[in-house]
Amino acid sequence: MPDPPFDAFAYGHTHFRDIAWMCQNTNHLVPREVVEPAMLQAIAERRYTMYPPGKGDPELLDLVRGDLHLAADDPVILTAGGTEALYMLERAFFAPGDVLISTDPGYPIIHRFAELAGARVEALPIYEPPYRLSAERVQEAIGPKTRMLLLIDPLNPLGSGYSREEVKALAEIAHDRHLLLLDDVTYRDFPDHHTLAREFAPEETITVWSVSKNCGLAGMRLGGVAAAPKLANEIARFHTNDLGVDVVAQWAARAALRTKGSWLDAVRRQTRTNGERIREVVAGVEGTRLPVFPSQANMFVIDIAATGVTPEALQREMLLRHGVFVRAGGYVSKNFGHRFVRVSFSNPAADIERFATAFPAAMRALRAPAARAA
Ligand SMILES: Cc1ncc(COP(=O)(O)O)c(C=O)c1O
Repeated sequence: MPDPPFDAFAYGHTHFRDIAWMCQNTNHLVPREVVEPAMLQAIAERRYTMYPPGKGDPELLDLVRGDLHLAADDPVILTAGGTEALYMLERAFFAPGDVLISTDPGYPIIHRFAELAGARVEALPIYEPPYRLSAERVQEAIGPKTRMLLLIDPLNPLGSGYSREEVKALAEIAHDRHLLLLDDVTYRDFPDHHTLAREFAPEETITVWSVSKNCGLAGMRLGGVAAAPKLANEIARFHTNDLGVDVVAQWAARAALRTKGSWLDAVRRQTRTNGERIREVVAGVEGTRLPVFPSQANMFVIDIAATGVTPEALQREMLLRHGVFVRAGGYVSKNFGHRFVRVSFSNPAADIERFATAFPAAMRALRAPAARAA
């Protein structure tokens, strides 16, 4: 019998203590004192024996509203990660034959949910400067069946960010052309400036947010969606979690959002420094380059196409031989994934130094057989 295919995540979780986790844009820099006492309190008080408040803890909902510049009575729905919010809203708004305008590279689960609802995804190729959507290209792509425009800002996986003018232009297109605008702001705390699309298209914008990346709580699975009441009511019809999302997660998110102003700058600074260090390392490896720098998020891609090394081989070599987990590009791009690996870097400096050793060594090892064969 042939060997089962190698499962990088199963391996990674088994060996997690020895691995620099740079594969999922997770944030390992939020001080543990920020969230752990709150989680322990929820456990000590045995809050897990009760259902949480069905719509969410009131203070948490207010903190989210404050964070997203919403009014006190604007609807906010809590979900198990932004992922559940994406599923709900795509079920709510797509009918068979509808079209979602998105990007390649982009975030794949959003495409999958659209297709589940019978919609077609038009993923505009953006793996060339300026590595993001432009108003002109979106205008050209809109057709009679276009239902929704997806803006991920900053963008996973490239790390590109949008200026205020660009967000405004895209929001105005959504308004003028009667489209829904899905504003995925999962990484909005990482850039220097971020603009919420809702400011320009309040009736059309659906904002999906998360505490996975900004607050370092990916494992807790908490996020949500905010939209004008008419849209929010439609989305809420598809809520499967009417008994509320994880209480320990809510307590952690509440503690993190209460205090974000006191620790976020340090997280951003370390993330930027790490990105610069990775750039130095990449500059020293022939044939590799960073298409987008600096990243406005906590990840970017390293293009290795000119080296002849495949992203899958590099992912495996770095993980198995060096304990550094980066992600092959096929996950986030149908057409360009063979060119790059994605690396995320809201990590302690020691992880980045492991990367600094592993990346050149892995590239050397993988290039050698290719060179011998030539
Ligand atoms: C663009 C984008 N949206 C949404 C998510 C979902 O995150 P979560 O379900 O952890 O909130 C991710 C996760 O990587 C993401 O990159």
